[in-house]
Amino acid sequence: MADNTFLAGQRPWLQRLGNLRNVVRQEMVTRQLAAHLPRGPLRVLDVGAGQGTQALHLARLGHAVTAVEPDGRMRAAFEEAARNLTDSQRDHVTLLASDLAGLASVTQPTAYDVVMCHGVLMYLPESRPAVAALARRVAPGGIVSLVARNGDAMAWRPAARHDWPAALAVLEEVRRAVEEGRSADYRNEIGVDARADTRASLTADCEAAGLELTAWYGIRVASDNVPVDEPAPEGDHLAVLLDVEERLGSTDPYRALGSLVHVVARRRG
Ligand SMILES: C[S@@+](CC[C@H](N)C(=O)[O-])C[C@H]1O[C@@H](n2cnc3c(N)ncnc32)[C@H](O)[C@@H]1O
Repeated sequence: MADNTFLAGQRPWLQRLGNLRNVVRQEMVTRQLAAHLPRGPLRVLDVGAGQGTQALHLARLGHAVTAVEPDGRMRAAFEEAARNLTDSQRDHVTLLASDLAGLASVTQPTAYDVVMCHGVLMYLPESRPAVAALARRVAPGGIVSLVARNGDAMAWRPAARHDWPAALAVLEEVRRAVEEGRSADYRNEIGVDARADTRASLTADCEAAGLELTAWYGIRVASDNVPVDEPAPEGDHLAVLLDVEERLGSTDPYRALGSLVHVVARRRG
């Protein structure tokens, strides 16, 4: 397996799963994807499934899920969360120890109706080969769902926090990246040096892989700048916050400011 740069931030990632920022992120992915799921039951592949939030949600809906995750600790978190499934739901979940580079040896080509890869591309040196590998797994007419750091709005987080020197540094990095024809680099909230994509770069990666963009969304438009340890609110407060984020994430001009960009693309039939 290739180096997994995410591991440097694994502990804070796992500790913060219940906090506001991750709750918003996961709920937006779930809602945005729901609108595009073909009629089920579906064959789902989740690459870099981590703790399995989305994979296990789809298993609970009765779909057959194959989850690929390179790291043992993340697989353990996935297995722990899978204990809440019923026996029959669990029978339809397969968790594989592999990564994107090993996808061809552990999964069949064109075998899945839905291929997901959420929060993984930023840990890879480039996205295009990864998107091509994901596209090869999806059946004609099926969809690929990608969530990546949004390089178009990288300065928004420090600017919204009124950290002006940090915002200026990010703007400068983005300008240099455009000038040099590369992706912008950044240090993320779990302390890992990572790489941002943009909606345009992901669209081009999808097209190069024979996928047609069907929708794009912003994730965490207005609740990205809260402290990383801010707990999720409860009850009505959380419900309305999620509804607002959902609307912002699918409405211009707000969606372009999401800290993450969610792209849904279809493989031509
Ligand atoms: C930020 S977590 C995201 C987990 C989950 N997809 C989600 O959105 O909640 C990133 C995950 O990607 C995995 N990962 C890192 N490099 C990978 C690679 N080359 N191939 C597949 N998964 C990878 C990590 O082990 C980690 O579980």
